[in-house]
Amino acid sequence: MAIQPTELRRILGHFATGVTVVTGRSGTESRGITVNSFTSVSLDPPLVLICIDRRARTYEFLPRAGAFAVNILGEHQRWLCERFARRSAPEVQDELASVPHHVGITGAPLLDGCIAYLECRIVGRHDAGDHAIFIAEVVTATAGEPSPPLLFFRGTYPRLARAEIFA
Ligand SMILES: Cc1cc2nc3c(=O)[nH]c(=O)nc-3n(C[C@H](O)[C@H](O)[C@H](O)COP(=O)(O)O)c2cc1C
Repeated sequence: MAIQPTELRRILGHFATGVTVVTGRSGTESRGITVNSFTSVSLDPPLVLICIDRRARTYEFLPRAGAFAVNILGEHQRWLCERFARRSAPEVQDELASVPHHVGITGAPLLDGCIAYLECRIVGRHDAGDHAIFIAEVVTATAGEPSPPLLFFRGTYPRLARAEIFA
């Protein structure tokens, strides 16, 4: 018997991850989405991937944007994780309007206070089941605030002891 999607999600939740907000801009439209499916793919050439739900607005938005930023969240930024895990009203064009940010070299919004940033240009999209895999070339990568990461595990946000990170 095939595993039910809710049960699969519950089991996959045992795989602890960091949390990112993927942002992009196309003309006057700016969007952000909370993503933990971010993975490094290749160092040379520098490639990463994200998996996006085909029902998400970001699925049709990203190809128009052509590029995106991966904003890696610190534990002090749980509010950004929750903010961008919610869909905004359909008429909202600039989802970043009330969120402190600066603009990167690809035009993608970079959220202030993150622990690291990557700016990436999309080089491939592969639809796979109910998600799509976006593969992107890293244009620039920088470290940010020296803060502990935001973690996601079994639907919760556990904290690392500071001593474990900076030992
Ligand atoms: C911790 C966390 C991780 C998530 N990771 C992903 C992900 O990797 N891919 C995805 O499509 N949605 C992911 N989501 C769900 C989206 O953030 C959510 O569906 C969002 O509202 C979609 O926005 P959009 O429809 O405006 O694009 C995640 C949510 C949370 C809370």
